[in-house]
Amino acid sequence: MTPRRPSRPPARRPPRKPGHEPAARVRPRVGEPTAGRLRPQRSERPALRAGRDVYIVQTQPGFETLAWEEIAARVEGAQLLGFRTVPRRAGMAVFLAPRPDKLSTLRLAEDVFALLCYRRGLAPTRASLEKIESSVRTALYLENALHARNKLTPGSRGGRRLRFKVVTRLVGEHEFLRTELKRAIETAIPGRGDHTWRLDEAAADVEFWVTMIDDEWMLAVRLSDDRMRHREYKTAHLPGSLRPSVAAALGWLSGPREDDVVLDPMCGAGTVLIERAHLGRYAMLLGGDSERTMLDAARENIGPRYQPIELRLWDAVALPLPDSSVTKIVTNLPWGVKHGSHAANRRLYPRLLAEFARVLKKGGVMVLLTAETRLMRELWRDGMLKPARVLQVSILGAPAAVYVCPRDAIPETGED
Ligand SMILES: C[S@@+](CC[C@H](N)C(=O)[O-])C[C@H]1O[C@@H](n2cnc3c(N)ncnc32)[C@H](O)[C@@H]1O
Repeated sequence: MTPRRPSRPPARRPPRKPGHEPAARVRPRVGEPTAGRLRPQRSERPALRAGRDVYIVQTQPGFETLAWEEIAARVEGAQLLGFRTVPRRAGMAVFLAPRPDKLSTLRLAEDVFALLCYRRGLAPTRASLEKIESSVRTALYLENALHARNKLTPGSRGGRRLRFKVVTRLVGEHEFLRTELKRAIETAIPGRGDHTWRLDEAAADVEFWVTMIDDEWMLAVRLSDDRMRHREYKTAHLPGSLRPSVAAALGWLSGPREDDVVLDPMCGAGTVLIERAHLGRYAMLLGGDSERTMLDAARENIGPRYQPIELRLWDAVALPLPDSSVTKIVTNLPWGVKHGSHAANRRLYPRLLAEFARVLKKGGVMVLLTAETRLMRELWRDGMLKPARVLQVSILGAPAAVYVCPRDAIPETGED
């Protein structure tokens, strides 16, 4: 069954989620000194606030609104304070939560922080460095944060003597460099009276993360460790393999249901299927790849878990599956960088979309991640794709987009 090409609909801009800035389009340069041509950049975003119960969840840029959706669904009493983006580096959802316990169960988060200090209205001049140093020395809530960190990351070290490191992000035009901001914080922390602090980048007990976006400044303590970002199941890593939090976000966008038959036709190391399994019940997981080494990695990562699951060696343009046999397709398409080429994708993508439309049931949804945004726009214009939602994201610094395409929006073969 080959879908016909319908007549071309007018090109439409991808819909934008109200109130959400697409990460890839935010202006600033990171950490460049620009003395001599500085204007104060007052943030127009609603102010945030720090506090005993204020947390930040960090994602790849563009996924922060979804991360908040997950928090709202899983963490009782959570209240959103706002979103912030560090272009190409991080998306952040800042929120209040009465208890930190559930934060370690979040799948769409890469990291969780406690927000100790927040100021806005800082001038982009060197005088602000002194204000920041003073805020660091007097910041409250550190003990609460260390307590929360112990709950979320059992085994993290406490005590009187603590080794620390500082991670800084600087967005916008400032008279000082990111490294100068970092040094200012590193100098201020040992001036706190609460612990004996020693700077130790390699073996830090406590990580202070400092983010300055235009005139806003935040000091946070990291509550999670690398296990949240990389997950313990991921023993086989392969080039092009997705960050688990991104795979979870794709699964979240598919609207998980317990009768789902979920297909990842190009499953690589299996991350999308595994993360979908963690989001909730399903009827069946199906995965395949054209490379045997990829399937071996997926089998290693999956082990005996996530049943019922079937993995097969196949070509995704000719799936050995009946028409209308799956309810969700969730996949990371080849970007033409580590897998294939842009030229090959021009031939591959239309064939993939036709095949996905064939196996997807009416009422089903496909969620597709790719950096081939120009090609996707052309296919959209040609009617091969009708996304209900497009998220502009950035993955490890590379701009990409996620397309959420309900099956019912794609014309049936023979339908006018
Ligand atoms: C961008 S990667 C997806 C990686 C996967 N989501 C993960 O996290 O490991 C694309 C995958 O598509 C596979 N692939 C490329 N062309 C294919 C085709 N025609 N049929 C099936 N798999 C294909 C590649 O082998 C690769 O594993």
